[in-house]
Amino acid sequence: MKAKQFYAAAAGAAMALTLAACSGGGAGSSSDDASASTDSSDTAASGETYRVGVAMPTQTSERWIADGEAVQSQLEELGYEVDLQFGNDDIPTQTQQIEQMVTNGADLLIVAAIDGTALASQLEAAAAEGIPVIAYDRLINDTDAVDFYVTFDNYTVGVQQATSLLVGLGILNEDGSEGDATGPFNIELFAGSPDDNNATFFFNGAMDTLQPYIDNGTLVVASGQTDFNTVAITRWLQEKAQERMDNLLTSTYTGDTKVDGVLSPYDGLSRGIITALQNNGYSGTTADGFPIVTGQDAEIASVKLIADDVQFSTIFKDTRKLAAQAVTAAQSILSGEDPEANDTETYDNGVKVVPSYLLESDIIYADNIQELLVDSGYWTEEEVASGVAE
Ligand code: GAL
Repeated sequence: MKAKQFYAAAAGAAMALTLAACSGGGAGSSSDDASASTDSSDTAASGETYRVGVAMPTQTSERWIADGEAVQSQLEELGYEVDLQFGNDDIPTQTQQIEQMVTNGADLLIVAAIDGTALASQLEAAAAEGIPVIAYDRLINDTDAVDFYVTFDNYTVGVQQATSLLVGLGILNEDGSEGDATGPFNIELFAGSPDDNNATFFFNGAMDTLQPYIDNGTLVVASGQTDFNTVAITRWLQEKAQERMDNLLTSTYTGDTKVDGVLSPYDGLSRGIITALQNNGYSGTTADGFPIVTGQDAEIASVKLIADDVQFSTIFKDTRKLAAQAVTAAQSILSGEDPEANDTETYDNGVKVVPSYLLESDIIYADNIQELLVDSGYWTEEEVASGVAE
């Protein structure tokens, strides 16, 4: 049954749709851990099972595996059938997977795009069949065929990344008050994949925060590389970040010139940057002067590095909450209602402003790992100690 029919069915059927707030279950949690309430009343009402296609970009980063599993398990708890696919960071693979979902009779699609501009024709084919589309974490651009967007406040994520860099350098304190350090500090900038709409939001949020300190000489981008396209790392690849950092260190940081901090927008890139630093003579912990490196996603390998005071910070985006929000939106759409949006202005995809639900993120430092990541059940103490998801 397609969405158009759903809307009609929904009008006639009183459906008690409830979804318990997502709780419990770590980032690497399996389907058993999700706690969406079991309520198959929507399928029972129609006598048919709703099919949801879930397209995730890659399995090379644990966050997307966690996202995929959380969305799948929460949808299954509601009695939906789920087709979960990972695109191996390969655009043709993802477009084919989406085509297949449409052919297989999906009633709704939840899509985290590899390239936000590459899916227009597949999604327009879906729209022609009346299949609604929810963009998951990453906006899908240049098409009318996207109905809703669930994500975090991506600009604020960038602000948080830059803020944590300033805290690490001692320019600010964790509570936001002014720190003692005055610099000048040498920093380098990295951005995410240029085909990921989020990457510019992160970079803009970060640069708006750092620019005043660059302008007054507290921060110096010694390489001179401040342009988004110059500092962006296609497909968010760790090895490319390592290579770029290596090049920066050998070209710019010679003699007594040392790098003090690196703005990194994602933990995978951060680990590549840290490896390059270590291969080029930087050692020890940030307390001993190891450069301040930021991050994003609270990946377990980086959380361990933060606990060990090698990486300075990351941004925690609770994928359990994002999955729950996507499932709530899916439920609303499938029952013929408009999903609840809390932002109807920010995310213009080039064709329309996509109604969005934005979640909040937190800065993780060594001193709040316990409270924000362990006590919330995202990672266990053992996982933080080993740096490996169980
Ligand atoms: C972005 C996402 C980040 C990070 C990055 C690399 O789209 O918002 O949280 O996961 O991709 O995977």
